[in-house]
Amino acid sequence: MTGHDTRTAAVEVFADRTAATRHLADWLLEQALNKTSGPFALALSGGSTPQALYSLMATEPYISRFPWTRMHFFLGDDRFLPHDHKDSNFGMLQRLLFSKAPIPAANIYPIAGTGTAEEAAHSYEAQLKQFYGADRFEADKPLFDVNLLGLGADGHTASLFPGQPVLQEKTAWVAPCIPPVAPYTRITLTYPAIHASKYVVFLVEGSGKKETVAKVRAQDPSCPASQITAMGEVRWLLDAAAAPSA
Ligand code: 6PG
Repeated sequence: MTGHDTRTAAVEVFADRTAATRHLADWLLEQALNKTSGPFALALSGGSTPQALYSLMATEPYISRFPWTRMHFFLGDDRFLPHDHKDSNFGMLQRLLFSKAPIPAANIYPIAGTGTAEEAAHSYEAQLKQFYGADRFEADKPLFDVNLLGLGADGHTASLFPGQPVLQEKTAWVAPCIPPVAPYTRITLTYPAIHASKYVVFLVEGSGKKETVAKVRAQDPSCPASQITAMGEVRWLLDAAAAPSA
């Protein structure tokens, strides 16, 4: 099936970050409004790249038009930190979007930042299974409508870092990861959980990511992002600086 993995995924290139961000906000709005029955489940990425998107979604016309009461917000990964820590992805989302948009509190699913990392992973998996309504994925029943991912220069995505045991995870939906190259223990969705998405959207910007985008599209095995697949479609949203050379 085309568009199902990082090699066959459609690539959309935008003049700059602002254009890519606005396109993604418009596309997310369209997806959320077009889903007329059932919850619209979004998994959001951390890091710096998507922050402009989250800020934009909290402004007009988006803040008046998104069907916030039907939308459910999950995290693709987080640093295992208290939510008020400056590097908490949940904390960032709380500041930029969740504290501003009229989202029912029950529709926001933070990853725990206290206790043990294993406990946090297990409780998040239990929340995902309760939301999904089953303990196993059904072939054509995605958990997420849209799964927004970023890309690290080393080829990591979510907190699926090179050489880490989590890359071998075939059954768990959520797992801890202690990346040797990045700060903080992480809690991350696994490949099977990310696969359970109608759309996986990579939002990648800047010349520093150009070579990595090319590697992941060529499914270079040294890049964990190369193994990302979706039940539906994988898509690349790139600014011109990160895009493949013509
Ligand atoms: C995180 C992210 C991570 C991020 C990449 C890219 O928690 O940091 O989920 O996977 O998307 O590291 O980060 P930048 O957007 O900051 O380059």
